[in-house]
Amino acid sequence: MQVTVAFKSLFKFFGAAQRAPGHTVLLALQAASARDKAMLFALESVYTVCMVALTGLRLEEGFARYLARFLGLSYAEELLRKVQEPPTRYFLRVNTLKVSSERLVEELRAEGYNVYKHPLVPEAVFLKVEGPFAVREHAGKVFVDYPTAESCYVGAHVYAPGVLKVVGASAGDTVSVHAPDGRVVAEGVLVMEPEEIFGRRRGKAVEVTLSVYRVASLRDHRVFKEGLIYHQSLPSMVAVRELSPEPGWSVLDMCASPGGKATHAAQLMQDEGEVVAVDRSEKKVEAVRENARRLGLNSLKTIVYDSRYISEAVGSNSFDAVILDPPCSALGVRPKLHYPRSFTDVLRLSNYQRQFLSEAYKVLRRGGILLYSTCTISPLENEWVVIHAAEKIGFEVLKTKYPGVRRPLLGVPGLLFDPVTNDTPGFFIALLKKKS
Ligand SMILES: C[S@@+](CC[C@H](N)C(=O)[O-])C[C@H]1O[C@@H](n2cnc3c(N)ncnc32)[C@H](O)[C@@H]1O
Repeated sequence: MQVTVAFKSLFKFFGAAQRAPGHTVLLALQAASARDKAMLFALESVYTVCMVALTGLRLEEGFARYLARFLGLSYAEELLRKVQEPPTRYFLRVNTLKVSSERLVEELRAEGYNVYKHPLVPEAVFLKVEGPFAVREHAGKVFVDYPTAESCYVGAHVYAPGVLKVVGASAGDTVSVHAPDGRVVAEGVLVMEPEEIFGRRRGKAVEVTLSVYRVASLRDHRVFKEGLIYHQSLPSMVAVRELSPEPGWSVLDMCASPGGKATHAAQLMQDEGEVVAVDRSEKKVEAVRENARRLGLNSLKTIVYDSRYISEAVGSNSFDAVILDPPCSALGVRPKLHYPRSFTDVLRLSNYQRQFLSEAYKVLRRGGILLYSTCTISPLENEWVVIHAAEKIGFEVLKTKYPGVRRPLLGVPGLLFDPVTNDTPGFFIALLKKKS
């Protein structure tokens, strides 16, 4: 990289960033050469950290500011608003090794479920999410933690471990269910005495009768227990479809739990070949085993390991495909009533995500494919990781096929499911090939 070119792009970049953050930052980045992009990204991170520190912004504001600088302020605001609502469709993957999508839809429709087949992904079916409904505040109140509030918001009951506080209510009373910030997410009936909730810390505490949104739950249904379905978002299914694993392949999932993508890959491979699912704790790996058992898969093997060193356990140059779906800032997961992530988290996560890439390269055979995906739309965890994989590790970035989805920033090939325009969770997908 010539010094003058670097200075010119830097000047342009920071000049644009000062005048009008957002799209101009992006334009400056787009104008930079591939090699300069990684450096500009790094400088952008340092700049944002300094700005957050100097202006005394709260960390969440730092995160919003980071998104605004890359995506434009109005878009970032719209996005942060949009992720507070669930998409209008709730997706399930049909285990086509046991039942066809058509048959499953027919059976559930006969029982009165509002279920439909997705037109492009054969194993994807969805239930309609209804709402928003007006929920009322009652004299009796149950305050719950954010994960519980987010589940209740779409119709789940309240279970004892999620309860923070019960105010003015005893068993049998009608109560409103509140998130920690006070907003009402549901109404229902308290079915346990408060002492029992905090004593036993087990079981259903509030039977929810009305929630802001509602989607039919199939977790207690025969179709779930018999392994005919797996709860999986549409973009997550598209990711594995893009990889398109074939019967007989060997696939390594480096961050596998609870097993959505690993079991989907085994399904598309007709349960022929080998899917090695790795996660870093026994508990996480047990969740994958449990799902594989329920779905009736035999080709899935599990390993407890830190995948940043996985070649020590599985050797080199052997896998046809690797799935890398690492921890991320999860901004795409909806509905999200609370977002405690900071810009510092993004930097930490981005650094962590890049640590898996050289191992992925090592374990792939020549010509093997890496599927990289995250459930966020944060550029430092998506585009930057892909640029790093291409520039520093030597992967070739492949084109993806799924239509109607935003392209990632900076001309990086791949798919960016965008909650603002796609009525889905936010999700990033890229395919990278180890050169032959
Ligand atoms: C986004 S989740 C994966 C979801 C999964 N791919 C699916 O489709 O169901 C990320 C997973 O990475 C795991 N993980 C984080 N660091 C890891 C490491 N160093 N080695 C192996 N797994 C790791 C976490 O425990 C977590 O289960």
